Amino acid sequence: MRIAVPKEIKNHEYRVALTPTGARELTGRGHQVTVQAGAGEGAGFHDRDYEAAGASVEADVAMLWQNAELILKVKEPQAEEVARLTPQHTLFTYLHLAAEKTLTKGLMESGATCIAYETVTDAKGGLPLLAPMSTVAGRMAVQAGAHSLEKAQGGAGVLLPGVPGVAPGKVTVIGGGVVGENAARMALGLGADVTILDKSIDRLEVLDDRYQGRIKTVYSTADALDEAAKTADMIIGAVLIPGAAAPKLITRAMLADMQPGSVLVDVAIDQGGCFETSRPTTHAEPTYIVDGIVHYCVANMPGAVARTSTLGLTNATLPFVLALADKGWQQALRDNRHFLPGLNVHNGQVTYAAVAEAFDLESVDPADAVNR
Ligand SMILES: NC(=O)c1ccc[n+]([C@@H]2O[C@H](COP(=O)([O-])OP(=O)(O)OC[C@H]3O[C@@H](n4cnc5c(N)ncnc54)[C@H](O)[C@@H]3O)[C@@H](O)[C@H]2O)c1
Repeated sequence: MRIAVPKEIKNHEYRVALTPTGARELTGRGHQVTVQAGAGEGAGFHDRDYEAAGASVEADVAMLWQNAELILKVKEPQAEEVARLTPQHTLFTYLHLAAEKTLTKGLMESGATCIAYETVTDAKGGLPLLAPMSTVAGRMAVQAGAHSLEKAQGGAGVLLPGVPGVAPGKVTVIGGGVVGENAARMALGLGADVTILDKSIDRLEVLDDRYQGRIKTVYSTADALDEAAKTADMIIGAVLIPGAAAPKLITRAMLADMQPGSVLVDVAIDQGGCFETSRPTTHAEPTYIVDGIVHYCVANMPGAVARTSTLGLTNATLPFVLALADKGWQQALRDNRHFLPGLNVHNGQVTYAAVAEAFDLESVDPADAVNR
């Protein structure tokens, strides 16, 4: 199969959809891989690395897209990329269509087959191509929050591990899923006093068992949130209600109960944020202060660690990429019922029910699309 890897063009996106290691796997199976010149630079992969893996490097973007059957990307296609898509293309990337009507229409009009990373599932009921980025964001959250606690950043001047004779800082994580557990693990590793709040008893049980009491687990209620506001040096927002905007769990009024210079890290900002005073920020200016409380609300946290994020993402996507290349999209999706829900748009029609519902469009069952 002819596979193309364009350079990402979304603002401040440095990841790339295929590493030289992945390229080698594909070329070793007889596929033809073409990488846009400079596509891997932001993640520390050079054109020569791809060439050594048997891929070719193409500087002409129009040629790259025209010659491709399978296109591997990281972010949703931007307008100029949508314009390059045709019915010959299978696109595999993050799409997040339910919030993007223009993009959805554009992909439908292109006639291309569009498979989204974020809707691929696994046997455990998880989202295996979303989880690596949640892991990155969770681990970064504590690093970012610890820096924000420094005096020069507007923080309270608290060192999370404390020192002998001085108690460690208190970190409360709201939401003990992938982001929350990874944040809690990092905070624990730094020697902080860590509590996780969650609404799911099952999840709290797993965490309690896994960390054997080293992380405190608390059922998430209004009282528990009030207590967190009064006592925590850092609160990390990591809740997710699938398909819904994040609930506002820390209100502006509650900021008055917090110690001045405490830090709120709202990882759930990409779903609207779970603190009332959150608004999206960027890596260029990641924090701002409201009522003496430092807010870190970067919507695209993994972008700051593009190399690790690229490696984590491509480890997860590679088996799916190999299946698409070896079998073609129809057979690959037919053979794997967890890959099938990845299909979002095909032949001008939406094949993912939640996206169709969001825009009042008719949806086609992906199983019908692959069997046509
Ligand atoms: N900012 C970024 O760069 C970035 C990167 C990755 C993920 N995220 C976001 O982080 C959020 C968490 O993602 P995840 O992968 O950990 O999700 P997840 O589904 O693994 O975990 C969410 C957890 O929140 C819990 N929860 C729901 N409502 C709650 C409540 N009221 N109180 C306490 N807990 C509650 C759920 O029970 C679940 O355990 C999502 O919004 C995701 O989009 C952001």
